[in-house]
Amino acid sequence: MPAASLLLLLAALSPAALGRGEQRGAPGRIAVVGGGIGGTAAAYFLREKFGRGVRIEVLEREAVGGRLATLEVEGEGYEAGGSVLHPLNLHMKHFVKELGLSAAPVSSGLAGIYNGEEFVFEESSWYIINVLKLLWHYGLNPLRMYMWVEDILDKFMRIYRYQTYDYTFSSNERLLHALGGNDFTQMLNQTIDEAMQKASFSHKFINEVVCPTMRVNYGQGVNINGFVGAVSLAGAESGLWSVKGGNKLVCTGLIYTSKAEVISGTVLSIEPKTRPRSTGDPVKLYQVTYNTTAGVTGDMYDIVVIAAPLNRRMANITFKNFNPPVPEFSSPYHQTVATLVHGRLNASFFGYQDPSAFRFGAIFTTENPKLFINSLGVVSPVEKKGEEGKLPLQSAVWKVFSKEVLTKEQLSLLFSSYDSVKVKKWLAYPHYSPPEPLPPIILHEQLYYLNGIEWAASAMEMSAIAAKNAALLAYHRWYGNADKIDQEDLHEKLKTEL
Ligand SMILES: Cc1cc2nc3c(=O)[nH]c(=O)nc-3n(C[C@H](O)[C@H](O)[C@H](O)COP(=O)(O)OP(=O)(O)OC[C@H]3O[C@@H](n4cnc5c(N)ncnc54)[C@H](O)[C@@H]3O)c2cc1C
Ligand SMILES: *[C@@H]1O[C@H](CO)[C@@H](O)[C@H](O)[C@H]1NC(C)=O
Ligand SMILES: *[C@@H]1O[C@H](CO)[C@@H](O)[C@H](O)[C@H]1NC(C)=O
Ligand SMILES: *[C@@H]1O[C@H](CO)[C@@H](O)[C@H](O)[C@H]1NC(C)=O
Ligand SMILES: *[C@@H]1O[C@H](CO)[C@@H](O)[C@H](O)[C@H]1NC(C)=O
Repeated sequence: MPAASLLLLLAALSPAALGRGEQRGAPGRIAVVGGGIGGTAAAYFLREKFGRGVRIEVLEREAVGGRLATLEVEGEGYEAGGSVLHPLNLHMKHFVKELGLSAAPVSSGLAGIYNGEEFVFEESSWYIINVLKLLWHYGLNPLRMYMWVEDILDKFMRIYRYQTYDYTFSSNERLLHALGGNDFTQMLNQTIDEAMQKASFSHKFINEVVCPTMRVNYGQGVNINGFVGAVSLAGAESGLWSVKGGNKLVCTGLIYTSKAEVISGTVLSIEPKTRPRSTGDPVKLYQVTYNTTAGVTGDMYDIVVIAAPLNRRMANITFKNFNPPVPEFSSPYHQTVATLVHGRLNASFFGYQDPSAFRFGAIFTTENPKLFINSLGVVSPVEKKGEEGKLPLQSAVWKVFSKEVLTKEQLSLLFSSYDSVKVKKWLAYPHYSPPEPLPPIILHEQLYYLNGIEWAASAMEMSAIAAKNAALLAYHRWYGNADKIDQEDLHEKLKTEL
């Protein structure tokens, strides 16, 4: 190749060609809207990429932790929101280690699957009996499901390698496509029911095992998309854990290590601004307006990362004077109510005449309009996690998930007696209704949105992955490193790199 055309080629790849001035200075100030796991992980990864010089501010209207929160029952804290983690949730694992926190195994009692009239499956304390029961009821479906989920998980795990090598994606679809190709993106467009039927799982298995798993994890049945369905099934595997002292400690810890400043306020609007400079190009900034106890105020930022679900009922942020306009997000979130009850379960409600024969510590349910609960299970306090093996059953703290707040009548049907009740009503996760496109990550030049990934699957680790992706994206777009964005065939490329 002649030298001149080589130069042209190099020029085409240079940062200037990407619309950024060459040797661009570091950004001065970055705002993160929302102090949940997504926002605090974003602060952490932004600090890692941009270094010590940049000022990072996290704007939070309620409490750092967001959907990771505990409720107190008789002096002990219990997880009320996001509670269990998978052993392969590597970002969360890394945070816990880096922050000097500890992981505790999540124990659960014997499981039963209730269909509103009777138990269609009852776990035994004998492993071999469970294996025989599963074979008897569902044939090879459970084993095949395990392999099906493992295959998806294997591909999903590629994200950690890509992110370790500093690669990032400009949209949620591209990110998922880079992990599992068309198989992954197609899973977003079909229900878990359709996906598993295509893979020849039986109706009985889907109704009695898959559906109850969706109901406990996402408050919805088998009409949720295939990808979140698979994530949910992975959450039924062994080795689950949570953070001793409460998962929200990860968020406060990330704020601390990232040396980000938390500002208490509700972000109301964001507007792009251009400031002329006497030399060189004008500076482009974002004006973020927020409400604090001292009144409405605001500041200018070079980069803004939104780490809260965008819609009118949730973050309710107005995007002023964007050209083209930022799209309006209106897809709803699903309401799930977590009720913590210290009491004795009413065995006869579940059709057991002899309460001493009733030994379940976790009850899952199939789809039945008569049922007013999704699931219930005995939980241990966040401080005592992993201390004793066995959970008390006689008088325990139960976590009940339901769509609506339970009435007094419903509580006294479920419990023969109880001492205390604590309720937390959440707009918990997306109300899934495939096929749906995923919201964009890039809302404007330096304005990024994390929570679109929840429409593929909502989970703590997904928010952490989206946070790292957005931090890398902001960094590479700021400095014009196009070679790190949206690379095709990364899986093959990175195979030969080592
Ligand atoms: C009941 C329940 C059970 C769950 N179980 C699990 C589980 O077992 N495992 C798992 O991995 N995941 C689980 N999840 C999902 C998980 O909790 C979420 O996916 C995750 O916590 C989302 O984190 P985030 O930071 O993206 O959002 P959020 O935690 O919602 O953080 C957003 C933050 O932004 C703040 N905010 C919103 N609007 C504004 C504004 N305008 N200005 C300033 N601040 C604003 C909010 O106050 C909030 O703190 C569960 C969720 C619920 C509700
Ligand atoms: C999935 O559906 C969306 C929106 O309905 C569509 O834009 C997209 O092309 C579909 N993707 C696949 C892989 O079928
Ligand atoms: C700001 O917050 C105060 C107190 O919470 C509230 O009364 C006021 O209406 C809010 N202002 C705006 C513009 O949202
Ligand atoms: C959202 O904010 C706008 C303007 O700030 C306000 O008029 C509207 O009532 C808010 N919507 C909800 C549902 O809170
Ligand atoms: C328990 O459940 C049975 C059957 O649903 C119901 O009749 C009874 O009122 C419930 N409550 C108590 C305290 O037994």
